[in-house]
Parts: sequence; structure tokens; C-alpha cells
Amino acid sequence: MAELDGNSKVGDIVTQSPGAAKVFARHGIDFCCGGGRPLGDACGERGVAVEKVLAEIASADAPADAPDWSALGLEQLCDEIERRYHVPQLEDLARLEGLARKVASVHGERHPELRQLAELYIGLKEELDQHFMKEEQVLFPMIRQMGHAPPPPVEVMRREHVEAGDVLRKLREVSGGYALPEDACNSYRALYEGLAAFERDLHEHIHVENNVLFPRALPY
Ligand SMILES: [Fe+2]
Ligand SMILES: [Fe+2]
Repeated sequence: MAELDGNSKVGDIVTQSPGAAKVFARHGIDFCCGGGRPLGDACGERGVAVEKVLAEIASADAPADAPDWSALGLEQLCDEIERRYHVPQLEDLARLEGLARKVASVHGERHPELRQLAELYIGLKEELDQHFMKEEQVLFPMIRQMGHAPPPPVEVMRREHVEAGDVLRKLREVSGGYALPEDACNSYRALYEGLAAFERDLHEHIHVENNVLFPRALPY
């Protein structure tokens, strides 16, 4: 295992030590779309010491069922991304839409930010439904059949990842970091907890595509 330091790229660090995802999330370090940056730069921007972050990574537990992504072939990578991320996240997207609409209609008067949140979320869901479908029906079959992917569709997917990341950031902002007000009911709680979990899962999903699958599938 390569020694980690300030020059290690943040995306590579998460690939090598999956427990780092939590540490980066805690410090607001973007490891999926910003995964190509050296740790030193990312820490500098967030005002946190590289040594502190490396120490936290060293003691972070990896998720119990995290696969060793670097050991999988391209075909297995596509299969595993679909199984592990696309299938459950499509379900989450539909479930959270129902909750977002319901909570906005019940509490939108007292908490107008919920209406803005629902609107942003529904836009994100529509984009991601399409995005997942393009990967499953176009990009992943190309990768499985040809053993690589032409750069233009990969670039489109990367751009869509950045756009999705931007909406996740806005959702977090509008909801005040998913902080629940005192009068929050169970649905309100389920929505905020569900969105926070979805954010974490989507970051991980995008990280695996941007920093593991795409670099290996590009033909140079
Ligand atoms: Fe995907
Ligand atoms: Fe994707």
C-alpha cells in the first residue's frame, strides 16, 4: 500500500482507504469531482492541517462491506456500481421525492425553505434518473464490450457529476445543513436524514466512477 502524504490525490486516497470518505466529508473536502487534487491543496483550502487529516484517516474504519475496487476488472466494476449504487439509489430517489413533496405541502407555510428544497430535489431526481439510465444503457455496455470508453461520453458523465454535486451543495445550504427545527415531525426527520444519507452515498458513487472506473476505461 502506497504511503499517503500531502501529494497524494484525494480520490486515490479514498480508493486505497475507503474510511477516508467520512474524514473528508467531515472536513468538507470534495473527493469525488475534486478527486484529482493533491491532499495538501485541499487541506490548505479548508484550513486544516494535512497531518491531522492523515492521522484521522489512519484511524478511520473502512465500511465493513467495502469492496476492493482496484482489484475488480472493468466489467465487474460496471456490474458492482450498478448493483451497489444504481439499484438502491434509484429507489431512494423515488422514495425521497414522495417525502419531499409531502413535507413541503404540510410544513411549507411555516418553513418556506422546504418548498425550495423540494423543487431543487425534484430537479436533481429528474437529472439523475436520466444520468443513471445513460450509464446503464450506453456507457457501461460500451465499456463491457470494447474494454474501454470513448472520451466524449465520459466527459458528459463527468460534467453531470459536477452538476449533481452542485445541487447537493445547494440542498445542504437551503436546509441549513439538514438541521431539524424543534417542531419537525417524523416525515420531516426522515426526509432530512434520507437526504443526508443520499448525499453521502452519491458522493461515494461518483467517486468510484470518476476516480476508479473512468480513468481505467479511457483508452490512453
Ligand atoms: Fe453511476
Ligand atoms: Fe455517474
